[in-house]
Amino acid sequence: MPLPTRLFLVLAVIATALVLAFWRPHAPPGSDGGAPSPGGEAFRQRLVAVGDLHGDIDNAKRVLRMAGLTDKADGWAAGNDIFVQTGDCVDRGTFAREIYDLWYRLRGEAQAAGGRVINLLGNHEVMNAIGDWRYVTQADIKHWGGTENRQRELSKDGWLGKDWLANYSISALVPISPFASAPTYSFQHGSLRPSFPNLTPYPDAINRLGHSLLTRALTPPLAPPYPPNPYSGLPAGTTREEAELYDGGGPLWWRGLADVEDDRIVCGWAKELQEKIGVRRVIGGHTPDFDKIVHRCNASVIIIDTGISYAYGGVLSALEIIYSLTPVPKDDSHRQDPFVAPANATDEPHVLHAGGKYIEREEVNAIYVGHKKRIALEVRQIVL
Ligand SMILES: *[C@@H]1O[C@H](CO)[C@@H](O)[C@H](O)[C@H]1NC(C)=O
Ligand SMILES: *[C@@H]1O[C@H](CO)[C@@H](O)[C@H](O)[C@H]1NC(C)=O
Ligand SMILES: *[C@@H]1O[C@H](CO)[C@@H](O)[C@H](O)[C@H]1NC(C)=O
Repeated sequence: MPLPTRLFLVLAVIATALVLAFWRPHAPPGSDGGAPSPGGEAFRQRLVAVGDLHGDIDNAKRVLRMAGLTDKADGWAAGNDIFVQTGDCVDRGTFAREIYDLWYRLRGEAQAAGGRVINLLGNHEVMNAIGDWRYVTQADIKHWGGTENRQRELSKDGWLGKDWLANYSISALVPISPFASAPTYSFQHGSLRPSFPNLTPYPDAINRLGHSLLTRALTPPLAPPYPPNPYSGLPAGTTREEAELYDGGGPLWWRGLADVEDDRIVCGWAKELQEKIGVRRVIGGHTPDFDKIVHRCNASVIIIDTGISYAYGGVLSALEIIYSLTPVPKDDSHRQDPFVAPANATDEPHVLHAGGKYIEREEVNAIYVGHKKRIALEVRQIVL
């Protein structure tokens, strides 16, 4: 073989090796919807939200395992995932205490792993706090060691009362990434009403009222439980705004986004909410559909209560959002030239740059036992 031909062959082999080393297919990442995918993502965040659990610790644990948040021993196994629970862990079923205990433990474990557990209060948590125990079962009270112990643990000096005051809120505004361009989501137990007087500044105004009402309710002496005692209503000193937070038009009880049938009305509200508080999706529980997670108005409204508790017998479900940023290749033609290696190979593909162009992909799924259902997929190009 003449020398130039041999040289050419050697160069061709090197070129092929370089192409194989640096070329990456541009297939959309995360299409498996589960484990991190090899599509050159520079950022990935997963969020899982679960609705009403009403005293069913076994199904609570099943749902978390099903959604890949916990392992067989119910320990946090989801790294930096975000977990949101939208309240109503108590009443109807027996094992609320275990559920709160599980959140307490997982919150610590998630934090240690770089993840986050976000707990919200539902109308049933606040009912328990103000002594409205109409849906508390005798089995629950017995399991809790009696009325007195239950009240002690719930009071602002008990472990659970303290935990509620420190770590639970009425509403949560959750950005899916630390970048200013990130989509944000609003979570609360019921429906967020666009005309709610303390909607903004969101969610601080709502949470400030929730905290003061809860502090009032959990400060001993606690209201004697109804029944058997008469209903004593909201605690003495409750302000008008706190009462508004708890009434039928507030975020704990309102069902408008779930139960008003006319889509034009609901989508109008969703649009108004998006304009007022800037979130991409408003997510809540409270109104069960026993078969599925409900989404409306292009999934700008999502209702995640599927009656998971044995007290209802609905399907096990979890909402999943997978968000990723993948760098837009600067100029694909260079990749075809085997003699031009990327200027800085470590630059690609896992480093984020301010001002860089990325494909933002947001995938929203409903997870059920044995299958997943796509609810929404938004893909756009953004500049960080
Ligand atoms: C809030 O949650 C963290 C993590 O679980 C826990 O360490 C802390 O004690 C909680 N705060 C209260 C007052 O319970
Ligand atoms: C839903 O999305 C489609 C396509 O992007 C758009 O045409 C439609 O107006 C949207 N509807 C609502 C209620 O936002
Ligand atoms: C190459 O990338 C690494 C990691 O981002 C960075 O620390 C380094 O400064 C870069 N080098 C050049 C020459 O750009």
